[in-house]
Amino acid sequence: MRLKDRVCVVTGSGQGIGAEIARRFADEGGKVAVVDINKENADQVVKDIVNKGGKAISVACDISDFKSVEEMANTVRKQLGPITVLVNNAGVTRPAMIHKMEESQFDKVIDVHLKGAWNCVRHTVQDMIDQKYGKIINVTSAAGLMGTLGQVNYASAKMGLVGMIKALATELGIYNITANAVAPVAATPMTDKIRTDPKMLETNLKRSVIKRFPEPEELAGTFVYLASADSDLVTGVVINADAGMSSVTSMR
Ligand SMILES: NC(=O)c1ccc[n+]([C@@H]2O[C@H](COP(=O)([O-])OP(=O)(O)OC[C@H]3O[C@@H](n4cnc5c(N)ncnc54)[C@H](O)[C@@H]3O)[C@@H](O)[C@H]2O)c1
Repeated sequence: MRLKDRVCVVTGSGQGIGAEIARRFADEGGKVAVVDINKENADQVVKDIVNKGGKAISVACDISDFKSVEEMANTVRKQLGPITVLVNNAGVTRPAMIHKMEESQFDKVIDVHLKGAWNCVRHTVQDMIDQKYGKIINVTSAAGLMGTLGQVNYASAKMGLVGMIKALATELGIYNITANAVAPVAATPMTDKIRTDPKMLETNLKRSVIKRFPEPEELAGTFVYLASADSDLVTGVVINADAGMSSVTSMR
């Protein structure tokens, strides 16, 4: 049990990658707050965890809203205890080429990913400072490391999340708080379009060394590592858990 009794907040955990992180954290003994704007989905994930004997609560929250995040953090603290682990995973995409991108598309993506992550850190970090221990994990993307077509908004937000963990790692190391990022890839609703369009699928898999989209549960172990004591000396880094897509040139 690598996360025994650690209170873990996982945003966007009503489905996709976040849901698998929440499930694995609970399997590892964590007390998990399943935080999502979609309460119905969050409730279902909690039900699955509790049915397996795990500990979890669902909290409806729009992470782009400062007040909503403050209320979420207060609820988690009251029901589970001081927060030790924060995974900033919730996300949306609004793709468009730059000359056609609406201001609302730019703002939405920045608000959810970048401002949302800041809101969550801002409202949970005092718990970690008080405990002199904590784990912050931002979910970035190959888009944030290398840029991707039609995603100036998303790439800007995801690169911002890398800058955020570098600054947090610098500020918070003195309190034994680590701040890292994961660049994942997985078959989730977010990648439905890429996976069902043959041309987009081919382009994406060209860069993958395993030539398939991994299932979200295959990623969960990377997050357990960064949330556990095993990574206490690892801070300010990005782990590319994307089958090489942003690390090597796959020539196959
Ligand atoms: N799937 C991939 O291949 C991939 C690749 C790179 C990065 N990512 C990143 O991984 C993370 C998870 O992606 P996913 O594929 O599981 O996506 P997903 O669309 O399946 O899930 C995203 C979740 O975030 C929630 N959410 C959206 N806006 C929210 C808000 N304002 N407040 C609270 N919750 C909100 C949604 O309700 C949903 O449950 C995202 O940050 C995404 O950008 C995914």
